[in-house]
Parts: sequence; structure tokens; C-alpha cells
Amino acid sequence: MRRLDQVLSSLGYCSRREALLFVKNARVKHNGLVLTKADQKVDPHAVTVDDEPLEAPDGLLAMLHKPAGYVCTHDGNEGPTIYELLPDQWLRRNPAVTSVGRLDRDTSGLLLITDIGPLVHRYTSPKAEIEKVYVAELDRDLEPSLVETFAKGDLMLRGEEKPCLPAKLELLSPRSARLTITEGRYHQVRRMFASQGWHVEKLHRQRFGDHTMDDLVEGAWKILPMP
Ligand code: URA
Repeated sequence: MRRLDQVLSSLGYCSRREALLFVKNARVKHNGLVLTKADQKVDPHAVTVDDEPLEAPDGLLAMLHKPAGYVCTHDGNEGPTIYELLPDQWLRRNPAVTSVGRLDRDTSGLLLITDIGPLVHRYTSPKAEIEKVYVAELDRDLEPSLVETFAKGDLMLRGEEKPCLPAKLELLSPRSARLTITEGRYHQVRRMFASQGWHVEKLHRQRFGDHTMDDLVEGAWKILPMP
């Protein structure tokens, strides 16, 4: 059981002071009964605001279809950020929501968003070797030998000491390919192609672990069940 005003403020509904107003205006119920005190101890699962259950009371996990042109940082000086695409209420949550890893500004596709720290760790830990699937468009025709080059597990990226883990490349058309990697190094896909003399002109992430975007349109998000 937790104090109502703390619950509402940590889930981004209002400040703790504003919780008094929520209560005064009879907007909050617990097990269907109107609450009269903002410091009352409640089970967050039994609370409603305006007759709606609280949003993601145990932590938020969501998927965003990131459009190209948005950066994965809270710093607004670098242009539009992915956080501008999310509901204001999420941005007021405490702990704060963050992306699970990052996509480059020019990369589009599936990005997980959460306020659950251990989940970020679980999904981004190198040990987890979670599959990330990208579709890349290249500046010139691909060569079939790249499939073996990426699969071997000895590809060195400039400035790094360890080779990339084996990656699966599937050629889709003369200048496009699907690449599955299990690491998340800085600009990894672009740098893997660059190491072999190709320039990635467009990059899109289709899958992250078990998550695919299905019909989510660019810029849209959806809340996911807890894993
Ligand atoms: N690899 C890249 O080069 N960029 C991304 O955004 C993701 C993976």
C-alpha cells in the first residue's frame, strides 16, 4: 500500500499538491469508492482516476515506431527528440522513461521505451545477446560474399579490439539487405557495412528480440504487457 498522492505523482498524473485537487473534485476512487484524503494508503491496482484504472502502475513498457529525424536523447538542443512523440504524462513519471538503447537520428523503426531500470539492463546487456533485425539500403549493389564476411565472427570495426559476433545477412534486392545482430555497438550496422566499403543510405529496425512492430505507424506508440 502506498500514499495516493505519491502514487499519482510517480505515475505522472499530477504533482503531490495537485493530488489534493483531484481528491477534492472526487475524481479518484479506490475499489469503486470516492477517496477523501490525498495521503490515504492505497493499492494502486484498485485506484481509478475519472473511472479509468491507473496507467501501468507497476512500470511502463512501450514500443515506439521511431521516425527518422528524431534523436534518442532528452537534450532538446539536438533537434526533435523521441520524447516529443510520447504522452506528456509519461514524461512526468518517476522513475523517468527512457529508451532501451538508442537508434541514430537517421534510423527509423522499433524502439522500446520504459521506466523500469532493470529491464533496460536486461535488454541491453551484451550477455543477453538479444536479436536486433535491421533493413538497410545501400549506396551500391551488394556482393553475395558479404553474407559470409558478416557471418564469420571476425569482422573488426575501426578503433575496436574485439571482432563483431557473427551476424546474419540476407540479401533482399541488389541494394537492400536484412541484417540480424546480437550486439548493440555504437552505429554498429552502419560501421559494419562501412568496413566493407558500403554506405548505408537508409536504416530501419524491424525487430527487437521478440518484439515486432506489426501495424504501428511511424511516430505512434503502444503499451506492451510486462515481459
Ligand atoms: N546500427 C546503426 O548503425 N544505427 C542504428 O541506429 C542502430 C544500429
